[in-house]
Amino acid sequence: MRPLITVANRCLHVLSKNSPSEHAVSCSLHLGSGFAGDSPQEDLHPPPPCVEVLPSEVSENVKYTVEPVQLGELTLLKGRVSTQEVFSLSNSDLVPGKYEGGLKLWEGSMDLVKALQSEIQAGKLSFSGKRVLELGCGHGLPAIFASLEGAHTVHLQDFNAEVLRCLTIPNMDANLKKSHAPECSLADRDIRFFGGDWKDIHQILPHIKYNEEDPNGDNGSASGGYDVILMAETVYSISSLQHLYELVKKCMSCPHGVAYMAGKKHYFGVGGGTRRFLSLVEKDGIMASSIVGEVADGSSNLREIWRLSFK
Ligand SMILES: C[S@@+](CC[C@H](N)C(=O)[O-])C[C@H]1O[C@@H](n2cnc3c(N)ncnc32)[C@H](O)[C@@H]1O
Repeated sequence: MRPLITVANRCLHVLSKNSPSEHAVSCSLHLGSGFAGDSPQEDLHPPPPCVEVLPSEVSENVKYTVEPVQLGELTLLKGRVSTQEVFSLSNSDLVPGKYEGGLKLWEGSMDLVKALQSEIQAGKLSFSGKRVLELGCGHGLPAIFASLEGAHTVHLQDFNAEVLRCLTIPNMDANLKKSHAPECSLADRDIRFFGGDWKDIHQILPHIKYNEEDPNGDNGSASGGYDVILMAETVYSISSLQHLYELVKKCMSCPHGVAYMAGKKHYFGVGGGTRRFLSLVEKDGIMASSIVGEVADGSSNLREIWRLSFK
């Protein structure tokens, strides 16, 4: 296996630049070799094992401070932890294959929460009683929003189990406690956390439609799958787009499931983007896509929110 080459190589400002938001990041990608243009990403680092992280496994050793995030009328809480403390990485927003950026709050997740609010207000979406999955959750604000809106099941996935332990679980807990709703305790709800790579994570997600490893298990039922899949800033890397799309297909309930995807139209330097992801969707031909919102606030290149559903 080749060693992971990080900061010393190339450092491209690709995902956003000079965000005015104090929460959003200035997203320098510290790229390893073999990760550019259209070529598949080299396996620089073995993917982490797929694991469920229990709320009781929350990290006690990493300093977590909480701060508010204003999203229109809504105030959510987000934590702040040090990338140095968690991953021994200083000044790194993302190191492909090692740390995929989950400790930062990216603009797309705030765009997504606002878009979900608008969808609810327009009567096009309800989370009440639904099964929800957030892929590439990081802070998990979209999934937290779904929980507060009454989703019955909320499952959150991140590449790094450390992100879940140090940040996502405390964030969920802080927001549920703040909501004061008795039905919103983390212990009483089906809120679960899963770490691992998109190409493997279906093996441990509880509600996939069909599991090759367990074709006769509960997961094989036609009623399986998640009603709503949420993902923000997950489509930057060309090498993982196909795995992400295959995962969405495996997890999205058929025929009525929907997925909401927020991200940049194009991620300069790495070649991914919402449009690149949608070209896979279109080529496959089984899902329809419609645009839900666009954000051109000058803080980054154009950002979009899309809705996917089975045709
Ligand atoms: C740029 S961060 C976005 C985090 C969060 N959604 C936000 O918008 O603030 C990308 C997220 O995608 C996830 N991710 C990226 N590549 C992945 C992969 N190959 N497998 C699983 N998760 C991945 C990471 O967990 C990371 O949290």
